[in-house]
Amino acid sequence: MGPAVAARGRLATRAGVFGNPLSFRESFRRPGASTPCRHPSRSHDWQMRPPEEFHTGRLRLRPVKRTDAAEIFRYAGEAGPTLFMPFERHRDIAESAAFAERCEDCWKSGSAFPWALIETSSKAFAGVLELRLSPPKADFGYILGESFWGHGLASEAASVVVAWAIAQPAIFRVWATCHPDNAASAAVLRKAGLRYEATLANWESRPQLGEIAGPSDCYALAKPKR
Ligand SMILES: CC(C)(COP(=O)(O)OP(=O)(O)OC[C@H]1O[C@@H](n2cnc3c(N)ncnc32)[C@H](O)[C@@H]1OP(=O)(O)O)[C@@H](O)C(=O)NCCC(=O)NCCS
Repeated sequence: MGPAVAARGRLATRAGVFGNPLSFRESFRRPGASTPCRHPSRSHDWQMRPPEEFHTGRLRLRPVKRTDAAEIFRYAGEAGPTLFMPFERHRDIAESAAFAERCEDCWKSGSAFPWALIETSSKAFAGVLELRLSPPKADFGYILGESFWGHGLASEAASVVVAWAIAQPAIFRVWATCHPDNAASAAVLRKAGLRYEATLANWESRPQLGEIAGPSDCYALAKPKR
């Protein structure tokens, strides 16, 4: 039994909350989606793929690998980084291993493109940024370990990926959402060139906040009409 299956079996036995017949965790589970992927993408229908690597001033972006589980657990198991995230905080490394495995599968199928953000100078694993291509639009999400916050790294990574995505002829809109209280994430999106569009009601489940259908601010960069 793989770690993901083992985790699922254990979780399904947990008591439900809010009168939900599913466990709290199961009520947040969506098929085909896990950390930090939110929406199963259809990019594979178009065979469009981003570069496997990007290099910025301070970062190397490369595909998340199975062997990254311990690095992923370092942020996915922590309260700070996962507060606003739509997945439940990882309780053991097997959950991070399942996520890392899913990342490799996503690259193979083209359903999503999760990059590890590696600090070039220290070779440290700072976090993950994931792009989903669904022409005519693309969306992305990101998470960094707390010790990497506040140095402009998320903005640097988001900017290079957004620039690549919006430059694709088939992509007309790059978008992302964040919790209305997630000021740091909103700042990252603005620095990557996106603009606030609207607050979406009942958009996202956030286990750490106890929200089954919480609001999200939607930010987007749309190509000007020709
Ligand atoms: C959101 C997150 C990725 C930001 O990463 P980061 O590398 O610290 O972001 P940056 O350093 O690029 O900061 C971007 C801007 O946010 C600002 N910022 C940082 N924390 C802030 C806060 N608490 N309130 C307001 N602005 C803040 C920074 O000042 C910076 O703007 P500046 O360059 O003009 O000063 C990081 O905090 C994180 O991983 N959080 C947990 C996961 C998460 O929330 N992901 C997003 C889900 S939508």
